[in-house]
Amino acid sequence: MSAITVRVPAKVNLQLAVGPLREDGYHDLVNVFHAVSLFDEVTAAEPADGDLSAAPLRVRVEGDHTGEVPVSDDNLAVRAAMALADRAGRSYRADLLIRKSIPVAGGMAGGSADAAAALVACNELWGLGLPVEDLMEIAADIGSDVPFALLGGTAVGTGRGERLAPLETAGIFHWVFALADGGLSTPRVYGECDRLREEAGVAAPTPAVSEALLAALREGDAKALGQALSNDLQPAALALRPSLADTLAAGRAHGALGALVSGSGPTCAFLAESAERAHELAGLIKDVDGCRAVVTAHGPVPGATVAG
Ligand code: C5P
Repeated sequence: MSAITVRVPAKVNLQLAVGPLREDGYHDLVNVFHAVSLFDEVTAAEPADGDLSAAPLRVRVEGDHTGEVPVSDDNLAVRAAMALADRAGRSYRADLLIRKSIPVAGGMAGGSADAAAALVACNELWGLGLPVEDLMEIAADIGSDVPFALLGGTAVGTGRGERLAPLETAGIFHWVFALADGGLSTPRVYGECDRLREEAGVAAPTPAVSEALLAALREGDAKALGQALSNDLQPAALALRPSLADTLAAGRAHGALGALVSGSGPTCAFLAESAERAHELAGLIKDVDGCRAVVTAHGPVPGATVAG
């Protein structure tokens, strides 16, 4: 094989319960991940030029608003491919092409998704045949959200979000995502969450999974799911980007079953009762101030998968 393309979904957090700051700089979480049908594609190809002096791993990025995506070794997909080569115990070469549809720095784990896709693509391109358990381990070292992008579906993450247990769900849920101009830095949003808690004199609670949320997922009950959605990072994201409050309010006013900031934001997620309602809702939200674009998607969908 001279090129492998992998399709990988975005995620929305159905529950993000943030515990205390740990010694290692991370927070203990209960993080209910849900993979939605908004995809990036990563192609790993054997370098055509045979230029052995070039960097062993090169990356290009295509798509809208990709200016902030690094095309250096800081790119999470490059780091993932390097970590995979390390695990295999030798150096390998690949040209990576990332085609982005997942918003950049949007709270939908786009960078993590690309890292997961690069692991699957390079594992195949280089004929390593590493089992998914090994890819999961490498993924957890790259970032807290990377293992879920391999797994997909709906799952609860504990620890810093990397220890995953798949969840049983029924049916399909329909979503609208309101994309905002510019991203929000994840460490900054976590820091603001700590600061707001300190200012209010509130101790960080021990995170626990919502039983109401689990029941709604099991039963495929979109109305109950809408009421059970929660995100402890939302007050921090709203403090850093006050215009998101208007976006959320517009979705609620137009009948969304639930509305929340996705992860660390600034993307806002709205649950609708059907695909048709999601399209209507998207049309009603798109002109709200601070909203750059809207997209509809459904979930759950599978994790990183070789395309075609
Ligand atoms: O794991 P990842 O590199 O994606 O995390 C990015 C940043 O998000 C971390 O550096 C940390 O500031 C914050 N984070 C956290 N607690 C978690 C996950 C992420 O504080 N459980």
